[in-house]
Amino acid sequence: MEKIIDKIKKEIKNFNPKDYYDLEKLRIKFLGKKKGMITILFKELKKFSLHEKKIFGKIINELKKEIQEKIKIFSLKHKCFKNKEEKLNFDPSSPGKFIEIGSMHPISIIKNRIIEIFIKIGFSYVDGPEIEDDWHNFTALNIPIDHPSREMHDTFFLYKNPDILLRTHTSSVQIRYMKKHYPPFRILSIGKVYRNETVSSHSNFMFHQAEGFYIDKKVSFSDLKQTIFYLINSIFGKQVKIRFRPSYFPFTEPSAEVDIYSSSNGWLEVMGCGMIDPNVLNNVDIDSEIHSGFAFGIGIERLALMIYNIKDIRIYFNNDIRFLEQFKSEF
Ligand code: PHE
Repeated sequence: MEKIIDKIKKEIKNFNPKDYYDLEKLRIKFLGKKKGMITILFKELKKFSLHEKKIFGKIINELKKEIQEKIKIFSLKHKCFKNKEEKLNFDPSSPGKFIEIGSMHPISIIKNRIIEIFIKIGFSYVDGPEIEDDWHNFTALNIPIDHPSREMHDTFFLYKNPDILLRTHTSSVQIRYMKKHYPPFRILSIGKVYRNETVSSHSNFMFHQAEGFYIDKKVSFSDLKQTIFYLINSIFGKQVKIRFRPSYFPFTEPSAEVDIYSSSNGWLEVMGCGMIDPNVLNNVDIDSEIHSGFAFGIGIERLALMIYNIKDIRIYFNNDIRFLEQFKSEF
């Protein structure tokens, strides 16, 4: 009996199961109900005198407790791992894996801000496709083939005849929406547009536009101006200087461009706007004798330049974590 006890004691000392299965083997070896060593000892004990039973009984019970305690500790260590490699390398005291929390892209932050601003004055948000046909991007917007203003948009064509292209502005969403709905409506759409422009600090081949349009009976240029003031003031506060400059777009008449003044950049053009040309309304079967409306298109990257005081438009899409991380606190 003493020999066996000594042997068990030694084994417990060196008790270091490599994994969960190893541990289970050891448990059976010591505590198994039929052939476990402790179980056998207890059986043997029956043959002893009362006095010996007391002495050995105590020792065997302590051994049993010790084994159970060790099994508990090791099973905590091993039980969550099914994968062999991981089992061997696991160190329960090492710090947990740190999951990096991303941040919203500055363009998305401004996009959401603009949506919020327009939802408050009854606009609904819609999306439009980036791949367009000639009719939605040009012809229906009063830009017929051979019209010189087509050259203002250096278009990326995907197919020729019929012309399929990457939209050069979000004004195509006006056509898509007006074709399917009858006024009154107030719509906002934001998305990517593409132009084959030389990449520089202030222009890129892809940028984002927010397009808004409102059609009802008796919509006037003063409605347009107030809406633009409301937008700019919501973003920059009341003190910002805004200027409307007469301009030309084939799909609006009269047309204007809106500039914002900032001390670092001077006057910066941020949007085009105007009263929707009657020809456009007629192209989508809206009676221009009854309805009128305004539209505007804002360059989001330009706006972001001013909001965040950024000097180079290319930085938005360089995927430089150091730049992107700065917007963590923004949402
Ligand atoms: N689509 C014009 C552009 O991309 C902007 C604009 C939109 C102008 C709506 C007037 C009305 O330059």
